[in-house]
Amino acid sequence: MRELVPQPPAIVRNDAAAVQFLFQNVVPSYGRFDIVLSHGAGSQLFDVTGKRYLDFGGGIAVTSLGHAHPAITEALVEQSSKLIHCSNFYYHEPQGKLAEGLVREIAPGKIFFGNSGAEANEGLFKLARKFGHDEGRFEIITTLNSFHGRTLAGISATGQDKVKKGFEPMVPGFRHVPFNDLDAMRAAISPATVAIMIEGIQGEGGVTPATAEYLLGLRALCDEKKLLLFMDSVQCGHFRSGRFQSFQRILENAPGAEKFIPDGVSMAKSLGGGFPIGAFWVRAQHADLLGAGTHGTTYGGSPLACAVALKILEVIKREKLEENARVTGEFLKTSLQQLAQKFPGIIQNVRGLGLMIGIELAADIPALPGDPTKSVAVRFTNMLHSSGMLAIPAGTQIIRFLPALNLTRADAGEGLQIFESIVKKIA
Ligand SMILES: Cc1ncc(COP(=O)(O)O)c(C=O)c1O
Repeated sequence: MRELVPQPPAIVRNDAAAVQFLFQNVVPSYGRFDIVLSHGAGSQLFDVTGKRYLDFGGGIAVTSLGHAHPAITEALVEQSSKLIHCSNFYYHEPQGKLAEGLVREIAPGKIFFGNSGAEANEGLFKLARKFGHDEGRFEIITTLNSFHGRTLAGISATGQDKVKKGFEPMVPGFRHVPFNDLDAMRAAISPATVAIMIEGIQGEGGVTPATAEYLLGLRALCDEKKLLLFMDSVQCGHFRSGRFQSFQRILENAPGAEKFIPDGVSMAKSLGGGFPIGAFWVRAQHADLLGAGTHGTTYGGSPLACAVALKILEVIKREKLEENARVTGEFLKTSLQQLAQKFPGIIQNVRGLGLMIGIELAADIPALPGDPTKSVAVRFTNMLHSSGMLAIPAGTQIIRFLPALNLTRADAGEGLQIFESIVKKIA
């Protein structure tokens, strides 16, 4: 199969300006960096000038097997020569097998397939509304600094004002409380509350893991008040933390952890490795709440998307990439923490689990070059780019590493060297 897909040329024409010019036809809703990408292989990316970048951003936690992985190419070619799409009026093997594989990783329940993280959350919001409907309960409590997607319900659920601004009024029924604060959550529950949604590790909010006590406390609170507990695992899920779900990793060795089963889990990003797919898992006892005709999406769980996601799941399991995420992630985090000790004026904090790492920079770094109207995180990211490394800024001061789950030790080491060289330059 592989010969059907020739490798892209090592260097392509330098048509950066021409490509950027074409973007005058694209809605300018994204702030873009000045990089025009051409192709990649593993954790290497190349721009149209032939410049090489080490990819520690993974397309924001998406390219779980890196770029141009032959298993993904093969799954795409093989499945597309059989059946790319059929309506959800019909059954097909890839959707069934993928659902089976995902359920096996969490707990007894069922899967709904969509196309993105926002859509996965949207499905959980509808599930909650259905659950509380006959009692008039509809309110979902989320946390400050959370991120749950860019649809209207997604920005309403997100605990950050910047995503809501200009799009008011919000969808009713969402409120936010501080993260990792069980008392605040308890105090916020009203007779209309039906569900709680949190990220196991807040991603856009700056890579902040939930504590084990918080997770267990939320489960007990939800049981007490008859609420659904939803985990938004779009960014922190799919083995990134070193376990399938970040809550499984956080609760390792926590007394009482076996009692923690959420009611819903949303997924996307690494699930499809770059092919658009999202999904939510719903716990067995609520799995038939959304009956025939209540929810759907044309492309959800297409044969092609599911064949790719299934192949990715197979490769992750076969190659034990969750272990790689854990070990390589620990190597990166420990090395960065040592760097932070040497340069406390530049790095304030390093946190995260597995291959989801947040590096909090100092609020003011006088020697940091670049446009002073831009955030420290963006200016530092620009320096990384110049030195041949991609990473993802979060908030104003945080740099995120969200690389492929098969990041090699050699690539991890090289990334660290690049990062360190920049820290030394601005120290
Ligand atoms: C935690 C979380 N939830 C939801 C989303 C939205 O996912 P998508 O962009 O696929 O709609 C994101 C995207 O960054 C996310 O990080």
